[in-house]
Amino acid sequence: MDAMQALLSRVSPTRLAPDEPDPLMIEQILAAGLRAADHGRLRPWKFLVVRGEARRRFGELLADGLKLRNPEVSTAMLEAERSKALRAPVIVIVMAAIQDNPNIPEIEQVVSAGAAAQNMLVASHALGLGGFWRTGAAAYDPQFKKALGAPEKDIIVGFLYLGKVATAGQEKEPDPKGVVAEWIG
Ligand SMILES: Cc1cc2nc3c(=O)[nH]c(=O)nc-3n(C[C@H](O)[C@H](O)[C@H](O)COP(=O)(O)O)c2cc1C
Repeated sequence: MDAMQALLSRVSPTRLAPDEPDPLMIEQILAAGLRAADHGRLRPWKFLVVRGEARRRFGELLADGLKLRNPEVSTAMLEAERSKALRAPVIVIVMAAIQDNPNIPEIEQVVSAGAAAQNMLVASHALGLGGFWRTGAAAYDPQFKKALGAPEKDIIVGFLYLGKVATAGQEKEPDPKGVVAEWIG
């Protein structure tokens, strides 16, 4: 699929298939992330790839984190949290690896990590795969971040769930809210 077609047609899939995509495709997706706009070329990112058995350990971390945040949580909720890790064959944890820089504020580094995440979603779609972006309480939980081995000042901008599309997502209207407007002064 060419770039414009991919940009103009990407939507989040509803469900992904369990089988692993070609690892070369995942490499290309990550390479697309590395092309994100990046003030000062700081590369203020960390992309942690979770696949295979590591997903189970990731699921355990999700469940442990939920239990710590909410000790009263039900077993069913814990299991649901754990199973999030199995929604896709590959998960990319996208982090803004914040650097001290007098000219490049944190917000720009976070936005750049977001741009990297979006690049990866579009790249997945362009390759005929699919991806969806999730955050949730785990993404903002300092203990969870620590358990991943990430430095305290890094910021998780999202978990990208990538794989072959099992159920396609809903199409969308181009601009129903009139986001695009001409400014004429
Ligand atoms: C930073 C960010 C975090 C998100 N977190 C969640 C989430 O935790 N749960 C969720 O259902 N959707 C989340 N979404 C929205 C979905 O990824 C998706 O964009 C939305 O369902 C709309 O689908 P679309 O990508 O086809 O427009 C998030 C999106 C962004 C940009």
